[in-house]
Amino acid sequence: MTTFRAAKYLAGVAVVALSAVSAQAEESVEVLHWWTSGGEAAALDVLKKDLESKGVSWADMPVAGGGGEQAMTALRARVTAGNAPTAVQMLGFDILDWAKEGALGNLNEVAAAEGWDSVVPTALQGFGKYDGNWISAPVNVHSTNWVWISKSALDAAGGKAPESWDELVAVLDKMQENGLTALAHGGQAWQDATIFDAVVLSLGTDFYKASMIDLDPAALGGDQMVEAFDRMSKLRSYVDDNFSGRDWNLASAMVIEGKAGMQMMGDWAKGEFLKAGQVPGQDFVCIRFPGTQGAVTFNSDQFAMFKVGDDRTGPQKLMASAIMSPTFQSAFNVVKGSVPARTDVPNDAFDDCGKKGMVDLADANSSGTLYGSMAHGHAAPAAVKNAVYDVVTRHFNGELSSQEAVEELAAAIDAVK
Ligand code: GAL
Repeated sequence: MTTFRAAKYLAGVAVVALSAVSAQAEESVEVLHWWTSGGEAAALDVLKKDLESKGVSWADMPVAGGGGEQAMTALRARVTAGNAPTAVQMLGFDILDWAKEGALGNLNEVAAAEGWDSVVPTALQGFGKYDGNWISAPVNVHSTNWVWISKSALDAAGGKAPESWDELVAVLDKMQENGLTALAHGGQAWQDATIFDAVVLSLGTDFYKASMIDLDPAALGGDQMVEAFDRMSKLRSYVDDNFSGRDWNLASAMVIEGKAGMQMMGDWAKGEFLKAGQVPGQDFVCIRFPGTQGAVTFNSDQFAMFKVGDDRTGPQKLMASAIMSPTFQSAFNVVKGSVPARTDVPNDAFDDCGKKGMVDLADANSSGTLYGSMAHGHAAPAAVKNAVYDVVTRHFNGELSSQEAVEELAAAIDAVK
């Protein structure tokens, strides 16, 4: 090659390299999320790698804090400063609130091309769409009415998984007698409220619907609600003294390590068990919270796409499309502990708890017993959810009697709804 031709060749290489760099720079997303535990981070990695394989680079904005309260505070600050992230992990009514503010972009084009309307369950579309327009991409369906039990602790307590409230209490008593912390729990308002979802549901699907979805004052202020708070006090008696402020994944670790008998938590907890190399049926057992079999309180993580300028809608669409791919939905949810947000994903890759989760969801959906989780933003807007958090947590910490809690709950919800 002559010097001249070599120089021309090199210049050509430089041009190609430069355009590759600028294409790369354009194809990037900044993602705000709260997936910081071991299991959550492993699942997030599936998404990150999937996007990277499609040429979309990832700028991470993690905001720790289960349930996402801190993440939502950080989001508000970013948007107020005029610097919204590209995509944000979000739950239920929060998505609709941002849509109402006009802050979210429009995903109709990709949704129509990929037929989202026919594969995403209606209950999820209620949060992924606003005013008939797709505004976010649902990545999963979690549910909150689960109990995660150490297999060895259960065997030592008689070996039979509890199916009713009385059986649950008997197993918890036995685990306590055996010298374990019977119930692994972290004292944070959202964790208390997660148990409360299941306890309210265990008193009947009509009661959950009337109190948590319809916010009916008679149900909120009635005798069944007193019973719900009494059950919370009973559960509190099985928690260890150091529970205050403990993160949920540390509570999962207590069960994983055999120091505690069980945890009442959404199925993101399964991600922790799997990350620790545990196998369902062998090392741990997953059951629906006793008395809630046949019903599901769900929450769906969605990625809402903010209006961040035309130059960044390309990567947003790529990300939405990647999230909605059936192969990705399987790979991601197998790790996360949740189930797919589309109805056409095969269950082959899922473990027994995942398979059960998929069947339970479909059954609850067809029998009309699928309800949004209050604790995780799918039953009512944030103001109501926060009122529930406040009362439930004060009662759990012994600051209110059950009767007082019921009165405060009804009054607080009435004031904000
Ligand atoms: C939920 C979220 C889950 C999980 C959990 C604990 O609100 O839907 O994906 O992350 O919080 O952080």
